[in-house]
Amino acid sequence: MPVIAVVGAQWGDEGKGKVVDLLAQEASLVVRFSGGDNAGHTVVNPYGEFGLHLVPSGIFSPHTVCIIGNGVVINPSVLIDEMNQLDQRGVATTRLFISDRANLIMPYHILLDGLEEKSRGGKAIGTTRKGIGPAFADKVARLGIRAGDLLDREMLLERLRSVLDYKNTILTRVYGVNPLSLDEVYSQYCQYGERLGPHMRETVVMLEEALKQGKRVLREGAQGALLDPDFGTYPYTTSSSPLAGGGCLGAGLGPTRINRVVGVFKSYCTRVGSGPMPTELKDETGDLIRGRAHEYGTTTGRPRRCGWFDAVAARLSAQINGFTGAAVTRLDILDDFSRLKICIGYKLDGRTIDYFPGNVAEVERCQPVYEELDGWQTPTSNIRQYEQLPLEARQYINRLEEIISCPVNIICVGPSREQTIRKTPIF
Ligand code: GDP
Ligand code: IMO
Ligand code: MG
Repeated sequence: MPVIAVVGAQWGDEGKGKVVDLLAQEASLVVRFSGGDNAGHTVVNPYGEFGLHLVPSGIFSPHTVCIIGNGVVINPSVLIDEMNQLDQRGVATTRLFISDRANLIMPYHILLDGLEEKSRGGKAIGTTRKGIGPAFADKVARLGIRAGDLLDREMLLERLRSVLDYKNTILTRVYGVNPLSLDEVYSQYCQYGERLGPHMRETVVMLEEALKQGKRVLREGAQGALLDPDFGTYPYTTSSSPLAGGGCLGAGLGPTRINRVVGVFKSYCTRVGSGPMPTELKDETGDLIRGRAHEYGTTTGRPRRCGWFDAVAARLSAQINGFTGAAVTRLDILDDFSRLKICIGYKLDGRTIDYFPGNVAEVERCQPVYEELDGWQTPTSNIRQYEQLPLEARQYINRLEEIISCPVNIICVGPSREQTIRKTPIF
């Protein structure tokens, strides 16, 4: 039962899309398990460059079945656009399946995400405004509309009528905006159902089948550990668990059935949206990283905040995910630096701590304590063998392995599939 979970180990955008595209070449099934179209997973391979929001990054592997699991909230319009674009660019989506249990993003979720953010004023979370938080809130409040509901029009109408009535009360009375029309939403979602119906399945059965046959399965995470609603910088987090454990619930596979957990780390840190990031560099070094790495969000185009590698956050991430291995991406971005810093502790109110505080106000006050390493000042993007990396680059990777207490399996030195170094086998 070779199941590998690939999860974001920092604040998202670590390069999960690239790593999943790579590993999917050797997998029979890839299942996305969390988030929604707040995710933007970039894949650069012989088909071209793609920014995927909902379709699993395994879609380019011709024999791999891709599943959008029950733990994902699906905006049907975004999914249909993504499928159409893939089809137009020669990437077949006939192997894409959707769990009928996945909750849907509805127009009121998107409206409410924007209105709630506006009402937070200076304390806005900086969400992607894709309706993610409101959709997950409705799922837990048992107000959600699920993918499978689109196939039973009578039930859909009945359910939509009662939920929309409630949502329209909030839209009009709390926020003073226009209500949504039941007829319009209903007919729109019926059309979505027609397009997506053929792709809907009881996906747990498909997973079970694959595992029985000993096939390799990848679980593709979205976001990153420090955006987890429990362990991240709450309330500046997303609304579903990006952790390997979240992958059990969001795909419908028990915890004993994950064989490997690969944490994807950037060789430095980035974050989009609000909330503390202790190693953020608001100086020319931060600008240098952003410029060199073109750190702008795949989903929103917002500039990403950049900073040095945070070992305190990385250790928390490794603990709560149980990493058996890691992928370190964007090593090439550090090529030009003569000295590199790793944050190994925080100064908090006059004392030094080595853990990531649960209280966001404390994290805000944390000042990074750095250790310094020599840079390599040699281009790495054409290197494919670990031994050929400059000594200082190997020392940097070894230091990361010590910090996260697991081997680095994969090192990425560029965005495209082949710009990859396999350091140690995942199995
Ligand atoms: P994801 O959300 O975790 O899939 O990551 P994103 O796609 O949002 O952001 C990662 C960015 O880094 C994308 O633009 C990738 O093409 C790019 N990328 C991934 N690995 C590397 C690498 O090793 N080097 C460079 N230069 N870019 C990379
Ligand atoms: P991938 O899968 C980076 C961030 C948003 C915001 C917070 C809450 O590409 O790594 P939400 O819209 O989820 O309610 O926003 O979470 N965020 C991400 N940041 N990468 C992502 O996904 C993200 N998904 C959400 O910027 O700070
Ligand atoms: Mg991303």
